[in-house]
Amino acid sequence: MKSVRSESVPVRDKVSRARAELAAALVERDAEVDVVLTALLAGEHVLLVGPPGCGKSLLLDGLLAWAGGRKFSVLLTRFTTPEEVLGPVSLAGLKEDRYVRVTAGKLPEADLAFLDEVLRGSSAVLNCLLKLLNERTFDAGDGVVKKVPLKLCVGAANDWPEPDTGKELSALLDRFTLRKTVAPIRTAAGRQRLLWARDHTPTFSTTVTAAELDDARRAAAAVPWSNDAKEALEQVLRELAREGVHPGDRRQFKTVGVVRAFAYLCGADAVRPEHLEVAQHCLWDDPAGEPEKVAQVIAKVANPCGMRVAQLLLEVEGVLGATDARNLADAARAAAKLGEVERQLAALPAGPRAEAARGYVRDQLKRLKLASLDAV
Ligand SMILES: Nc1ncnc2c1ncn2[C@@H]1O[C@H](COP(=O)(O)OP(=O)(O)O)[C@@H](O)[C@H]1O
Ligand SMILES: [Mg+2]
Repeated sequence: MKSVRSESVPVRDKVSRARAELAAALVERDAEVDVVLTALLAGEHVLLVGPPGCGKSLLLDGLLAWAGGRKFSVLLTRFTTPEEVLGPVSLAGLKEDRYVRVTAGKLPEADLAFLDEVLRGSSAVLNCLLKLLNERTFDAGDGVVKKVPLKLCVGAANDWPEPDTGKELSALLDRFTLRKTVAPIRTAAGRQRLLWARDHTPTFSTTVTAAELDDARRAAAAVPWSNDAKEALEQVLRELAREGVHPGDRRQFKTVGVVRAFAYLCGADAVRPEHLEVAQHCLWDDPAGEPEKVAQVIAKVANPCGMRVAQLLLEVEGVLGATDARNLADAARAAAKLGEVERQLAALPAGPRAEAARGYVRDQLKRLKLASLDAV
């Protein structure tokens, strides 16, 4: 990965460049890029769940390549031992009748960790992880509980745990403050980019040191909440309770910091209702059905632009998927619908996501018209 001397670039600009560079390299992963960068800035762990080959590792490896600090990555299987994650037991220690782990290069010494297939770990490994991720402390075996430097753990998994798969997995799921499902590429244009771009590896124009990230975290934690945003969050929680979704107190409190980090990522100097968009990845416990409810409630209460763009794009895909461009009446109906979506996108506050979506809809309109001309 290419990087340039970047000492003179302020950290906030570095973050926003990395956001753009990751989103440009990966196809249809803008939301995931925002989620992982928000997690990095909030110092909260993040889990991405999606089918094999949908770009999770590409994104998470890219993030770790860009961010400075000591790193640890592991692919967990049922056979991975605690030694591989926490470090082997010291032989010298054993000779003196002491049981201590040598943690050099392992999770207890990492600033940033990537646990791939994290839900596959054995009970022994999951139990070790639970404590370390939650309390960010570790006892190497000598009875001294030390703070670990871990700032961010990113996890990936192929499936959400089945309901009733045991306490360990649901406890582990709870350690990740942000959790997002990663869907396969949806649009035809996205698929073209996936197929014909020669390389999807992100290229970064900057790197960022661990100290700079600490500065960014402090600045993000100091972003104030506007009164509107506070009211919106309270209303979201009330409506969720009415819908039977009750995120725990710790999760609610952590969400406040996560939304601050997202506002910082968006370049805002105060949290506004639209920044609640990111809270859809925090405010639920049960992956079956709750994430969708939370997203709907947030979309209704806080009306974030990003969520409206996503909804409109889904509509566009629905229309395109159901249209035979060679049937003129069909094509005309679809064109009218796309025109309407384009107008709605134009009415949204200006921003890169709305702009990109408008460009996409315009391109699709052109293709539709060309295809129907061909058919005549
Ligand atoms: N959304 C995407 N954008 C760009 N490349 C992708 C995307 N999804 C998959 N790929 C391609 O497929 C490869 C495998 O993806 P990977 O990150 O290993 O998947 P996962 O970790 O989700 O199983 C990537 O290296 C990339 O070439
Ligand atoms: Mg992977």
